[in-house]
Amino acid sequence: MTPESERDLTERIKSHLAAGTTDLAPDPYENQVDMYTSPAVLKREQERFFRSGVLCAGLCADVPHPNDWLVLDVAGKSVLLARDNAGTLRGFLNVCRHRGAPVAEGQGNGNRFTCPYHGWTYNNIGKLIAQPMEEAFERPTACKVALQELPIEEKHGLIYLSCDPQSKVCADQHLGDAASEIAAFDLSSYHRFGTRKVSKQMNWKLVVDTFLEAYHLQTLHKASLAPMIYNTHCVWEDWGHIGRLTTPRKSIGEMSDGSLLPYVTMLYFLFPNLVLIQQQDHIETFHAFPKNNSPDEADIVVSLYCPNVPETDSAVRHWTKNFDLLMNVTEGEDFALCEKIQKGFYSGAQSHIVYGRNEPGLQHYHRSIKSALGLSGGTGETMVA
Ligand code: FES
Ligand SMILES: [Fe+2]
Repeated sequence: MTPESERDLTERIKSHLAAGTTDLAPDPYENQVDMYTSPAVLKREQERFFRSGVLCAGLCADVPHPNDWLVLDVAGKSVLLARDNAGTLRGFLNVCRHRGAPVAEGQGNGNRFTCPYHGWTYNNIGKLIAQPMEEAFERPTACKVALQELPIEEKHGLIYLSCDPQSKVCADQHLGDAASEIAAFDLSSYHRFGTRKVSKQMNWKLVVDTFLEAYHLQTLHKASLAPMIYNTHCVWEDWGHIGRLTTPRKSIGEMSDGSLLPYVTMLYFLFPNLVLIQQQDHIETFHAFPKNNSPDEADIVVSLYCPNVPETDSAVRHWTKNFDLLMNVTEGEDFALCEKIQKGFYSGAQSHIVYGRNEPGLQHYHRSIKSALGLSGGTGETMVA
């Protein structure tokens, strides 16, 4: 966050605290339950967002060193991220050009990928460099047998990617006016402590929903978060594809003239499926993907980034405990309830749900989704409850 942005935010939070207010949207917003259950909506989302759209695939810290590589599952498409010896990052469809097996699994450091089926071997710039019984194959042109490369761009510590080889990726277009805000966090200096993946019976957008309002803290997180964080006095800001929800901690009364960060939770949303939470001394990310082409199933990939590589056992214990606590709250409280919500969507109780005036982040999110899908009720239109 830039110093100007921090000053502005501090004033807005202080004024909400003094007046007992919170940021409000002009009206409540109703959204169709179908947006969470319809296979047709999911099909559009798959095409628009996951198969051909531009996504933030993670942080550069996920593949920080030369020759690091990592396999991602992007809503059912296996993608290989590989950094070459000179530090250039590339993305490939993780599909062997012989008969389609994945050439890598997991993550590692190395400059070659040998397909487990018949042993074709590719280097980390995607080129086929070895082919057992080469004479059995007509000599194909190099481009035909290279791994299929994907458009990718690294910017301000973030990796932007499209799973469509014909797409163009422009990170600046996504970051827009939020670029200086994101750049100021120096995300590329962080170390990825760990990643955990969970699969849940819920629509992928419910993962994002649960982070874009603090309204539920006092009830759902009564024992875990509510003693520390307000469920109101929030500030919502958005710059198109990027949104920021800032919620004060109850310790904010102790704040002097220093940084605001220790006294708030600051959460960034990167359209359409990534939530990045800037905590006082670390960063957490939540990536949501539809699973099995089902509107009722989601994969959630959670990562924790700390400022440095933990060098002692006690540092590792500290971050492991942090990660456990994070999962206890999100998986144990948020996602557990979201699975029940997904069931409730099929009950016939209602055709619409509502995002209140005190949930402007949710309203922005769902208007943006509808705009991008070409559905009515998108940005610029009003749907009043
Ligand atoms: S499928 Fe990869 S070598 Fe045959
Ligand atoms: Fe929550």
